[in-house]
Amino acid sequence: MQEFQGKVAVITGGASGIGLAMAEAFAGVGMNLVLADIEEKPLNEAVNAMNSAGTQAIGMVTDVTKTEQLEALADQAYERFGAVHVLCNNAGVGVGGPAWSISKEDWDWILAVNLHAVIDGVRIFVPRMLEQDSEGSIVNTASIAGLTSAPSMAPYFVSKHGVVTLSECLHHDLQMVGSKLRVSVVCPGWVNTQVVESDRNRPGGPLKDEDLDPLFGMVRESLRATMPNAMPPSEVADLVVDAIRNNKFYVLPHQTWKPMIETRMQDILEERDPTLSTPPDSPIDLG
Ligand SMILES: NC(=O)c1ccc[n+]([C@@H]2O[C@H](COP(=O)([O-])OP(=O)(O)OC[C@H]3O[C@@H](n4cnc5c(N)ncnc54)[C@H](O)[C@@H]3O)[C@@H](O)[C@H]2O)c1
Repeated sequence: MQEFQGKVAVITGGASGIGLAMAEAFAGVGMNLVLADIEEKPLNEAVNAMNSAGTQAIGMVTDVTKTEQLEALADQAYERFGAVHVLCNNAGVGVGGPAWSISKEDWDWILAVNLHAVIDGVRIFVPRMLEQDSEGSIVNTASIAGLTSAPSMAPYFVSKHGVVTLSECLHHDLQMVGSKLRVSVVCPGWVNTQVVESDRNRPGGPLKDEDLDPLFGMVRESLRATMPNAMPPSEVADLVVDAIRNNKFYVLPHQTWKPMIETRMQDILEERDPTLSTPPDSPIDLG
């Protein structure tokens, strides 16, 4: 999609972190915005800031795990702007521990936000975007966790692998029908956001210290310490604008993490046990 001016972007999880940074980057290239988030206060603040700066933006409190709320979001976007050109399925959460120790409720929550909501986003928005018959893009925020595997975060990794392959399948499906729509899947390493505190939106309330798995607790503490030095979300957002402009499918903001993907692929091709890879700038050595 070459022309952004006056086009419309819908962003889930648009009130903070990578979603907010994408909103700011899209505003910078003249797009109109529909921001959706479960957190009302930061959502209102983001929308007010956008409108004050001259961007046409609306916000809608949305829990992406509720299909009817995503349907209402699409209705609202089309009612207000008459079209959607860029859909960012971006909201995401994660808590961890060994795969067997995570409650069914937490598995369900993480898969609902990170994967089923992306599936719903595709089901609900893509038919309308196809009918529009204009250039556009579906941008799914996965993670490097969608291309690798690691201990202590199984639901997160499972959900992100799902988002990567959903995006790849969607790309093929759109190509098969000769659509003008393109897909990008964003697979960052660590980005300086509030993702480590995503249990703030956990249906059962934030995790209590006594409920924390020790390994996940250690990972979380070191991530909290490392976050201020992680990649700024604006860098990811700039890469997303570039990917939409250049029809780029895979967006891997952390180039130095690529050997982890290569090692996993070699493990598979050589049919050997999975290698435990530590990210190059990791504060902890999981091995
Ligand atoms: N920050 C990282 O290191 C990193 C790395 C790779 C991928 N990601 C992915 O980036 C995406 C954005 O996360 P972030 O890092 O900006 O974190 P963040 O916590 O700063 O932002 C996530 C946003 O999603 C919203 N959200 C959570 N549950 C929701 C729900 N049920 N319905 C609607 N909105 C909901 C939150 O309120 C928040 O505004 C996620 O998919 C995350 O998995 C993050």
